[in-house]
Amino acid sequence: MDVGGLAQSEPNREENLLSEIAVIGAGYVGLVTSACLAKLGHQVVCLEIHPERLAQLRAGRVPIHEPGLAPLITAHFATGRLRFTDDYADAIPKSEFIFIAVNTPPTGDGRADTGFVFRAVESLIPHLRRDAVVITKSTVPVGTGDRIAEALTRGGAQASVVSNPEFLREGSAVADFFSPDRIVVGADDHEAAQRVLRLFENVVARESLVVNRRSAELAKYAANAFLATRISFMNEVAEICDASGADVEEVARIMGSDRRIGPSFLKAGLGWGGSCFPKDVQALAASAADFGQTAGILRAVYGTNHRQRVKAVEMIQRHLPINGEGVVGVLGLAFKPDTDDIRESPGIAMVSRLAASGVTVRAHDPVAMERAAECVPVGALMADPYTVARGADVLVVATEWPEYLEMDWARVRREMATPVVFDGRNALDREYLQALGFVYLSFGRSPRGEGPWGAHPAARLSPELVRAG
Ligand code: UDX
Ligand code: UDX
Repeated sequence: MDVGGLAQSEPNREENLLSEIAVIGAGYVGLVTSACLAKLGHQVVCLEIHPERLAQLRAGRVPIHEPGLAPLITAHFATGRLRFTDDYADAIPKSEFIFIAVNTPPTGDGRADTGFVFRAVESLIPHLRRDAVVITKSTVPVGTGDRIAEALTRGGAQASVVSNPEFLREGSAVADFFSPDRIVVGADDHEAAQRVLRLFENVVARESLVVNRRSAELAKYAANAFLATRISFMNEVAEICDASGADVEEVARIMGSDRRIGPSFLKAGLGWGGSCFPKDVQALAASAADFGQTAGILRAVYGTNHRQRVKAVEMIQRHLPINGEGVVGVLGLAFKPDTDDIRESPGIAMVSRLAASGVTVRAHDPVAMERAAECVPVGALMADPYTVARGADVLVVATEWPEYLEMDWARVRREMATPVVFDGRNALDREYLQALGFVYLSFGRSPRGEGPWGAHPAARLSPELVRAG
């Protein structure tokens, strides 16, 4: 696995570059951070409280699908530079740097729940070295670092608190770690900031930014929310395309050729899922409200995204032989390709909505089947995508896995009861599928006036569905 920007020589082994590091939380972020810091030559202990996950790691098994991660963990588990524990008294006393990478899930009102963060802080206080630096890797609301510093002081600890937000994308997290656009260190203590920057001495970043801690905390949310905004904006443009006969892919290509806009994150479709965008857009809006701001754009961005999966189900139901009944196949349950993460996945949400409406649903995913089995109807998961297509009235591509794009679509056409495909990611070859006789549905690519909403407002979303959204 090419780890991108890592300096080609082995890590610089000068003593002052190698550190004792603890990482709290062995999730998608904590595990990647631990393995990559070990690859840089540091001595890393990763603390995980979930017994099953800890047992898997100690048995040399990697509990998540992330390209390039397993070989790193195996290699550094073997060199002894990476080990796992659930004991703070074991992990903290020798550690100069402690990364907090526990989850910060949304509470009912959209705020980020920092309960796990502060539980970790309270647990590490009794064991902290006097020169320790506590580093928040998890995405935390602006001002959390101040509250952590207050908790440390109350506990009699001297440690500095630094924000080091991650910008890793699932599916390319290891490569992103070693080839980041920027390394961000937010600290009010300049010396601590420099010590943290030195941990990444061997990483080739386009730039390193040392800023105040609150700026680093807020910038993480703002960056994610901006990327999410681009996507919701394109989904709004896609609606206008469907009503007017423009093609959102062509519009996006024209927009993206402007260097000020750039071509990425302009893809209309089922919208964003995952453990970050949905959580971070809500949390930033809630933070804004806490500071007395309205955050109207953020609320609209979230609403538009959520409606995509509702509109998709509505569109599919309009194409079933008997409205509301029939067989629908859903290809892709992970929230994006190259991950097994199904959190907030549009594919999962559609399976649930369609099944709840009485439709017979079949589904498949190349790597997320085990995680999906816990939240799709019994018997819905099929061993391969062609079995999902067999007898289906509509086939949905909800996640643009390469294996779906490369399927034998002539065979798919023969397997289906009626040749209707919903391309949830605008990733299929529309002209080719239409030449095979498929009815091609998507967001933003319908022929003039034949969009899912037709030319007449009356064909728009049924009020009940929007309210159910
Ligand atoms: C998390 C946050 O959700 C994200 O906002 C942040 O950017 C990085 O950390 P992720 O790694 O996906 O992202 O979370 P998750 O996959 O849920 O992993 C968290 C891990 O921490 C879990 O394995 C959990 O068991 C563990 N954990 C949680 C602890 O070890 N101790 C705790 O007190 C709480
Ligand atoms: C995101 C940020 O990219 C990353 O920097 C941050 O650290 C964590 O959150 P991630 O959620 O792993 O990373 O995946 P990403 O590739 O950003 O995709 C997020 C969602 O947006 C996915 O559901 C994807 O399907 C969707 N997406 C992405 C679109 O719908 N259209 C696009 O053009 C791009």
